[in-house]
Amino acid sequence: MAKTIIISNRLPVQLQINNGSINAIPSVGGLATGMKSVHSGSESLWIGWSGLTDEDTPPELEDAIDKALKENGCAKVKLNAQEVDGFYFGFSNRTVWPLFHYFLKYSEFELDFWNTYKAVNQKFADAIIEKSDEDDTIWVHDYQLMLVPQMVREKRPNTSIGFFLHIPFPSYEIFRTLPWREEILEGLLGSDLIGFHTYDYERHFLSSVRRLLGLEVSFNEIYLDNRVIKVDSFPMGIDYKKFRDAALVQVERKQDNRSDLQQRLDDHKASAPDTKLILSIDRLDYSKGIAKRINAFEYFLNKYPEYKEKVRLIILAVPSRSNVPQYQLLKKEIDELVGRINGELSTVNWTPIWYFYRSLPFENLIDLYTSSDIAWLTPLRDGMNLVAKEYIATRTDKSGVLILSEMAGSAYEMNEALLINPNNFEQQADTLHQAITMPLEEQQSRNTFLQKRLERYNVEVWANEFMSALNQKKTAGHAYISQ
Ligand code: ADP
Ligand code: G6P
Repeated sequence: MAKTIIISNRLPVQLQINNGSINAIPSVGGLATGMKSVHSGSESLWIGWSGLTDEDTPPELEDAIDKALKENGCAKVKLNAQEVDGFYFGFSNRTVWPLFHYFLKYSEFELDFWNTYKAVNQKFADAIIEKSDEDDTIWVHDYQLMLVPQMVREKRPNTSIGFFLHIPFPSYEIFRTLPWREEILEGLLGSDLIGFHTYDYERHFLSSVRRLLGLEVSFNEIYLDNRVIKVDSFPMGIDYKKFRDAALVQVERKQDNRSDLQQRLDDHKASAPDTKLILSIDRLDYSKGIAKRINAFEYFLNKYPEYKEKVRLIILAVPSRSNVPQYQLLKKEIDELVGRINGELSTVNWTPIWYFYRSLPFENLIDLYTSSDIAWLTPLRDGMNLVAKEYIATRTDKSGVLILSEMAGSAYEMNEALLINPNNFEQQADTLHQAITMPLEEQQSRNTFLQKRLERYNVEVWANEFMSALNQKKTAGHAYISQ
């Protein structure tokens, strides 16, 4: 039977070796958390990197690793330390990630990174050819694998190939600065269908194709040799029911069965019932605007000093890409900022910022979402931002206020949130004040709309829409006869 092959750099689980035994821990990040729900309910095979380098893997554990991955419906592409450096930490996260998030000054154009990126993309393409049949459908994910569609197309001219980009596609003016811009576009054009989160990213991509490759583009179709490639936007949803149900369980959980974190949050509420909890959750990434958010919080406390001892900002930051210098600098900057502000403003009864630098189990994420009065998410650029959607899904009594950056892809679908420009401190201070004083009926009315939309356009609907658009292309055939 024909299957779907999902392929991404990051698998839904990360393997770690501890004293000779293998642990599979859930991966963090929108691609893995979102696609996990799609994958678990289907017959798909998910191919990706296990998170271990060849050097970290004793040969006698290879079989056990394959078994651990197989249990999760996955198969691995093996990478050595040099490949991980050049492909993952290098071209993916020191060249493409900053460029596509408009951090042009952080983007490094290194020929070695590019060569390793090409070689590793070829490894992923070879793994697809090895593990799939001609009539399988191939779904390639994200910026780490942009050359894979064309590499597979060369060996399998008639296979159905879809590609989805989970990050923004930047405007032509930014994209054109990349030395290997044509090769990247040609790699993507090996697909039959190319998907983006928003119409703007789609538009930027089409503009680059037209201007850099000079190809004929009509509405959302690209004509290349004898093929028609379709481009469309598919805003990714969440597993709404999973988050809502987990929140319901959390609310019903008996007093003596609460997690440690929940107990701490409950104790906090009991001792200071008027204090509002403001939550932010992100990977520790400069695109998320965490340092600016902390500065904006200080600005807010100066503008509205009556809220001192009445609000607390919880920052949960997951360690991410810590071999990349910009991420190390950011970690240092945030540590210092939090230390300075807590040092200057804390009182005997109050610490303005609670800062956690770690990944948390799903149950604890739910504890934080359900206990926070406000979620404050301020990315400077973000392809989508699923945290915003997850927060709303867990508000089972419809209370809670979402403050969201208009630079996040999710802002396009979440108009009832309080949308802000993360560079505007004055506006954010006033918006925090508005959120803190928002009447419950208004919170409930806004969240009713948001929840309905998130429930309807959940991650399953998102994946089905992408797959049915890809299947329609398959049925229509690839051929295009040039006039
Ligand atoms: P990105 O994909 O850029 O990391 P998203 O907001 O789209 O941003 O996705 C982040 C995902 O990672 C969400 O599904 C969220 O639940 C999860 N996540 C974020 N922080 C943590 C954490 N500290 N522990 C566990 N999971 C986390
Ligand atoms: C974003 C990217 C994903 C990536 C995730 C986590 O969501 O779009 O491709 O997997 O961040 O980053 P990491 O580098 O840990 O895979």
